Amino acid sequence: MVKIAASILSADFTQLGDDVTRVEAGGADIIHIDVMDGHFVPNLGIGPMIIKTLRTQTKLPFGVHLMVEEPHRFIQPYVESGANFLVPHVEAFHGLYSTLQTIKTSGEKSGVALNPATPLTQITELLPMIDIILIMTVEPGFGGQSFIPQMLTKIASARKLIDTSGYRIELAVDGGINAQTAPLAVEAGADLLIMGSAIFGDRRIEDNIKMIRQLVS
Ligand code: DX5
Ligand code: ZN
Repeated sequence: MVKIAASILSADFTQLGDDVTRVEAGGADIIHIDVMDGHFVPNLGIGPMIIKTLRTQTKLPFGVHLMVEEPHRFIQPYVESGANFLVPHVEAFHGLYSTLQTIKTSGEKSGVALNPATPLTQITELLPMIDIILIMTVEPGFGGQSFIPQMLTKIASARKLIDTSGYRIELAVDGGINAQTAPLAVEAGADLLIMGSAIFGDRRIEDNIKMIRQLVS
């Protein structure tokens, strides 16, 4: 079954707790949290203090997308604040293997994210260590961008890579996923849809989640 993650980057931060409650009521599977350091991507956010506060608000797992340089520095604070999946970028830091080991040692799930221009060959050796492959379907850093159609081929290749590897790895897509692109991504092999503006944009949070759920099931 396809999972839906709500990216709170597009939530209303004046009522973040309520938005997260509504996401859970709408039937989403994961809260997606974008961490940005102003270096790896131009944008900034979302710190561990906010995650810790939200942890009291929902039982849904927290997926933390680490769009930061030197992601190893951020594993401990985010695990302590309640992260359940930690997903650094392959482009960010040469010590990725040990970063993934640190995540595993913490007992949480680990993944790797790839920018649109990064080939899948970069992660072949990492497959035994990861629970998630996250394909960026826009350039990372901002919500509300358009899905890059060429990424459908990459999603299909990642699907093949996972299936032939024999490992149980979820295939996530992040960026520009909406009612038009979600079915295409799922058809190409994605089984975890990360969505920001398509869920929060018009504030019909519960309805949007249910609508996408119907579309892809
Ligand atoms: C972008 C972030 C996404 C973002 C997606 O860099 O990683 O999680 O919130 O937003 P939408 O769904 O609006 O493209
Ligand atoms: Zn993200």
